[in-house]
Amino acid sequence: MRRKIVAGNWKMNKDFDEAETLIDDVVKGLEEEEVDCDVVICPPFPYLELATDGAADSELFEVGAQNVSSFDSGAYTGEVSAAMLASLDVNFCIIGHSERRKYFNEDNATLAVKVEKVLANEIVPIYCVGETLEEREANRHFDVIRRQVEEGLFGLDAADFENVVIAYEPVWAIGTGKTATPEQAEEIHAFIRSLVKEKYGDDIANEIHILYGGSCNAKNASALFAQPDIDGGLIGGASLKAEDFVSICRQAK
Ligand code: PGA
Repeated sequence: MRRKIVAGNWKMNKDFDEAETLIDDVVKGLEEEEVDCDVVICPPFPYLELATDGAADSELFEVGAQNVSSFDSGAYTGEVSAAMLASLDVNFCIIGHSERRKYFNEDNATLAVKVEKVLANEIVPIYCVGETLEEREANRHFDVIRRQVEEGLFGLDAADFENVVIAYEPVWAIGTGKTATPEQAEEIHAFIRSLVKEKYGDDIANEIHILYGGSCNAKNASALFAQPDIDGGLIGGASLKAEDFVSICRQAK
């Protein structure tokens, strides 16, 4: 049985004081509620140490970054390496979020390098895939997702691949309030798991975590998490309110 993962993607939100308050409130909430999933908080880079300190004190959550450099070190102004993240005790890293694909032109080949860099530093990549509305309406969603999965991840050997988390985030559902129905999400999750099975076999396909993201909130989380191939969520907007985020965590069983 796969233990569910709920990861909060704060994106580019909150100042330092607000970040501190949000972490404190999430910790308080997690202490009060019965939570039976792995919780990950992914704040902006400047607050990572604040978060890893909070994680070490409370032992109630782990910390993820939202991006990483595809380079190791050196003259790459503005970049943050996987080794730097590891040195802060960051355990997860979101890679290939659709906002990075769209606004920063990140393609599958670059993302494959980023995945390798974090794995080499014992950080779990949360590799995001998902189709646009246009692609879904043209009935190209399966092809798009297959390519994203194959080109971003299938260069890995099995020993590395088994440490990967995949997040299915339909672009049309992100920040729009339009959630995929549990059935729509399950269809794609099952498809992704079938791709993994074909490539890496039954055992790895059964172990791999596939999270859903895209307007997942305290009201719809239970129904999504009840689907057999949905192993938790990558939560954007609802992770910015401690009460909502903790409620989603409680629903992940
Ligand atoms: P959302 O974002 O929950 O605000 O739709 C999810 C994400 O982009 O990770």
